[in-house]
Amino acid sequence: MCGIIGRVGDGDALEPLLTGLENLEYRGYDSAGVAVQNGAGIKVQKRSGEVSELKRTIDGDPPEGEVGIGHTRWSTHGPPTDANAHPHTDSTADVAVVHNGIIENYATLRERLREADHEFTSDTDTEVIPHLIQQYLDEGYGSEGAFRRAIDELEGSYAVAVMLSGDHSLYAARQGSPLVVGMQDEEFFLASDVPAFLEYTDDVVFLEDGDVAVVRPDGVEFTDVEGNPVDRERQTVDWDPEQAGKAGYDHFMLKEIHEQPTALAQAIEGRTDPDAGAIDLDGFESGTFEDVERVQLVACGTSYHAALYGSLLLNAAGVHATAHLANEYSVAAPPTDGGSLVIAVSQSGETADTLGALRRAEREGARTLTVTNVVGSTAARVADDALFIRAGPEIGVAATKTFSSQAVMLALLARRIVADRRGDPGTDLGAFLAELERMPDRIDDLLETSHAAGIADRYLDSDSYFFIGRGLGFPVALEGALKFKEITYEHAEGFAAGELKHGPLALVTPETPVFAVFTGEEDERTLKNAEEAQARGAPLVAVCPEDHPATEIADAHLGIPDTDSDLAGLFANVQLQLVAYHAADLLDRPIDKPRNLAKSVTVE
Ligand code: M6R
Repeated sequence: MCGIIGRVGDGDALEPLLTGLENLEYRGYDSAGVAVQNGAGIKVQKRSGEVSELKRTIDGDPPEGEVGIGHTRWSTHGPPTDANAHPHTDSTADVAVVHNGIIENYATLRERLREADHEFTSDTDTEVIPHLIQQYLDEGYGSEGAFRRAIDELEGSYAVAVMLSGDHSLYAARQGSPLVVGMQDEEFFLASDVPAFLEYTDDVVFLEDGDVAVVRPDGVEFTDVEGNPVDRERQTVDWDPEQAGKAGYDHFMLKEIHEQPTALAQAIEGRTDPDAGAIDLDGFESGTFEDVERVQLVACGTSYHAALYGSLLLNAAGVHATAHLANEYSVAAPPTDGGSLVIAVSQSGETADTLGALRRAEREGARTLTVTNVVGSTAARVADDALFIRAGPEIGVAATKTFSSQAVMLALLARRIVADRRGDPGTDLGAFLAELERMPDRIDDLLETSHAAGIADRYLDSDSYFFIGRGLGFPVALEGALKFKEITYEHAEGFAAGELKHGPLALVTPETPVFAVFTGEEDERTLKNAEEAQARGAPLVAVCPEDHPATEIADAHLGIPDTDSDLAGLFANVQLQLVAYHAADLLDRPIDKPRNLAKSVTVE
């Protein structure tokens, strides 16, 4: 939610700032702005709309300087107007601030500052920060001292980057929202996420909650808010900038759909041994899960669908498992204790709802594990352990490759938990792993032969789109519908196939295509449910293998290979991703940046 970029070094700051903002737009695109230090004071340029609008505004009058900050916004306090765009400044424009998160005590601080004659020009919570810093500067504190005093007064969640007139350093602090420093020779970056500066460096330090970073032209100092040094590991990330670009595809989403074979190969690489029938999960010793009595998975959105998929696999193997929407888990969690393993599933590892659930589980004494894509993310650091899905950067707001990689990771984890509890891997593990290893090539084939574009076109003007599935097909139906509504803005719903007749069937008309997912689990019953909809006029699109009985009655067919029923739904999901993508493309929607959404939701 909101992207921050900062840059200190020789030469022009504007270009890396704008590149960073473009790379961060997936975090929010309501408004954008930059502030650059040019020796004669800070120059701020900002406006509502996307970064491309900001670039057009800047073109005529580019701010010059070596140090700068920038921001791309997803609105929380105040609408997406020019005035509410970041950076925000104090009344003298000597302090410029960009912020991601929410300042909970902003109303109290603003009242106090107003009484001291500070004038506010926006509706944002952020604007109190430059005024607070200015107040401490007026009281005689130096730049760094004023910054630390101000940060100490903030309550809530924030990642903040601050620039002061005449000062060639940037000051940053993190509490609950992500912030990472990038370093190369004598050029330094601050950002909400690594892809912001990947074109420049892959050498990074992730800040932790409570950290302050002072980024000077000759180096970076990491301390707590009082100024006590903290030791933070410098690491190299293995994402390359090419991966973060569109590589010739029209949209990031389409590129990421096509990256699934690679992402899955990376997810399982070195973790599976079909011959020995063994699963090796990075550093988890054999038997590590033997005491797990029950598993609770917590997640939001697409990650919740992956979590539901994982919980069904665990239950089928005899492990008590439940999947929970993370935002509900904090108010209605099931009993949790030392025998519980709570697994947070999150692509970004920064989703506030999921972090809240994770922290609750820790308080209850559960063992915690994060399944995430982002090394160094908050969830990876808060949980006792982390498993990385290794999908590479995902920029499109609609999650695609990360869903597949999460589900595969959870399938491996489920088998491993079962093996540890039982003391032996079971007889069918080798065959399952062999099937898993075939998956990347088979998804490649599916992507090449898919008729999803034609089906999207055929049903484009429908009133509503239904997705149904049973067992492991159910989370896939939910995910198919979420993807469809998220990027087409058309109404779509996912249902357990057997539930149609309990109400939703009333909505079915010839203008309601039903996409039915067949995974090989009780397909006859799903077919019966699909026929019930078809009998009311609904066009039926069967997602199933070529020789499946459903193809005999369906109006259209999307093919998947004949495979292990634990994996079949994941192939079906790729077909449904393509249907959603092509429908959105035909409707000319902004596919990578759907309205009102953001890639990383760091507010509750
Ligand atoms: O980063 P996370 O996986 O925790 O994000 C969770 C949801 O916000 C996310 O999956 C969202 O539903 C996607 N936009 C769906 O495509």
